[in-house]
Amino acid sequence: MRHIFQQGSDPAAPVLVLFHGTGGTEMDLLPLAQAISPASSVLSIRGNVLENGMPRFFRRLAEGIFDEEDLIFRTTELYNFLDQAAVENGFDRRNLVAVGYSNGANIAGSLLFHYPDALRGAILLHPMVPRRGIALPDLTDVPVFIGAGRNDPICSPEETVELEELLSTAGANVHVHWEAGGHQLTRSEVIAAAEWMKDSL
Ligand code: MLT
Repeated sequence: MRHIFQQGSDPAAPVLVLFHGTGGTEMDLLPLAQAISPASSVLSIRGNVLENGMPRFFRRLAEGIFDEEDLIFRTTELYNFLDQAAVENGFDRRNLVAVGYSNGANIAGSLLFHYPDALRGAILLHPMVPRRGIALPDLTDVPVFIGAGRNDPICSPEETVELEELLSTAGANVHVHWEAGGHQLTRSEVIAAAEWMKDSL
């Protein structure tokens, strides 16, 4: 998968794995990584799917309606890529914390929904429920930060609460940070994510 890897100054710090939103690239969230954990190494990935020329991490049939078959295929592809990237770049595969926005948060959420060991933790910014009706793996004590907007038209507050409940029931330690606004990424939620990162990992 197209990606960039930047070595951080602290080899023991979690490696941040960045997942952009629809239409983004692997460059978009680099400033966020710097704000959240400046000493971390960073693996930033570009989604393998194109929707009208816009990179994404899996196909969708319409806004908010995911192509489940492709979601599963892309989740496995990504899981295998993380294994390969750890070997190629010499980082600890068990020390990955995802930072995903929107479609990127949804693929990171899908990694959590399908694998107990894909991620050590996750910062999901404006995520949705990636799949319904499946048993989640054991996520005991996996720390998850969810950034959500009370007026987000894409990720409704009800869906945020549903996601929180699904992850918590699987054992994850979930913190939801609410913003008053919509789907946009805000400076204050990034600051909250950085604080959470210091306290939780
Ligand atoms: C998705 O397709 O993952 C969500 O609808 C968010 C987005 O618009 O990318």
